[in-house]
Amino acid sequence: MNNNLQAFNTFGISSSTANLHHVRKLSDFPSDSYDPASWFILGGGSNVLFVDEAPEHILLLENEKILYLDRGDEVHVKVQAGVKWHELVKDTLARGYSGLENLALIPGKVGAAPIQNIGAYGVEICDRFVSLTAWDLKKSELIEFNLKGCEFDYRDSFFKSDKGQSYCIWEVTLRLDKHFEPVLGHQGLIALKDKPDLTAQDVFDSVCEIRSSKLPDPEITGNAGSFFKNPLIDMPQYSDLLRRYPNIVAYPQKHKMWKLAAGWLIDQCGLKGYRTGNAGVHDRQALVLVNHGNATGTEIVNLARYIQDKVFEQFGVKLEPEVNIIGKQGKISLDDVT
Ligand code: FAD
Ligand code: EPU
Repeated sequence: MNNNLQAFNTFGISSSTANLHHVRKLSDFPSDSYDPASWFILGGGSNVLFVDEAPEHILLLENEKILYLDRGDEVHVKVQAGVKWHELVKDTLARGYSGLENLALIPGKVGAAPIQNIGAYGVEICDRFVSLTAWDLKKSELIEFNLKGCEFDYRDSFFKSDKGQSYCIWEVTLRLDKHFEPVLGHQGLIALKDKPDLTAQDVFDSVCEIRSSKLPDPEITGNAGSFFKNPLIDMPQYSDLLRRYPNIVAYPQKHKMWKLAAGWLIDQCGLKGYRTGNAGVHDRQALVLVNHGNATGTEIVNLARYIQDKVFEQFGVKLEPEVNIIGKQGKISLDDVT
């Protein structure tokens, strides 16, 4: 059977797989037939770009239990991989628990959230992380990972490494607060510092408002959020760029590194709103590539390479994709696409 995956990825790219496996309980995992080159795990499909055919077997995570555990001053929430992330954020707030409000409106499912250590508005999931359990697809057993074992970094974790590929995240435990402690360091939220009686719901509302004003709604325009990561550069390269571009948008990092706003770099190349065929650069956020209708994965990849070239020519900085590019044998790099 040929299953079309267009409705299973927010880019809205047409691709197909021979087998869709719905996983609701541990016994739904394959027991002896796992081969990394033909199996792929799919959450909400909001951080993938299918090029060509998809792998032969797709695992769709559909376990959806949420359990709250009282831990004195705080609460732990144990949440299964198939729960939608934004629904979890809303559920925690409705129960009076804070901690996830800055991460409102991120599409996708809980199981994928640790993969790239989702982050927005000054918070990353690692800031709230307690532990997770993952199904080892090679050994068919459940393994527990603590914070250290996940090796979280900016848009990165152990699960993106070669060794991490055979683990399917099953359940994630996060730390929530009973007493609200706002995180307002991000420039977009600074105005909230003066708001009297600020609540977690206020932060949630602000984040939703800002995001809706600049990010395209995947229900209307296919996209996968930021297509590239914000690049990290060292001090000498930053000093040189700052001299040439005094308005460059950059954030200081540890070890004297600087993180550049990739959206600003792309925007400066005059590419905001650029369109070629069915693939385009969003007109309110240049870091987001969009499907204007019936684009193929290869059209999006060609646009991404064009952007990489233009940014490199002007700034000498190589943009790396944040989105996972998926071919017939699983994850590939932009350069692998022919
Ligand atoms: P998928 O796209 O289905 O999968 C992503 C990767 O995770 C794949 O490699 C997949 O194999 C793997 N995976 C999925 N589930 C599991 C599992 N259970 N076990 C092991 N591996 C798994 N991201 C941010 O960090 N911050 C943002 O602010 C943000 N904003 C976005 C805005 C928009 C409009 C969109 C479309 C995307 C945005 N994203 C953002 C990206 C995306 O939403 C997140 O990366 C999200 O966590 C992906 O979840 P998903 O379930 O859709 O994963
Ligand atoms: N900018 C421009 N032109 C643009 C886009 C951005 O000049 O077209 C400038 C903005 O003016 C701003 C700066 O670049 O000064 C940063 O832009 P923005 O605040 O929109 O954030 P971002 O760095 O582009 C990152 C994450 C987002 C996350 C936001 C908020 C990455 C790759 N992206 O985007 O995550 O929601 O910050 O914290 O780190 C995602 O991962 O898919 C994603 C959307």
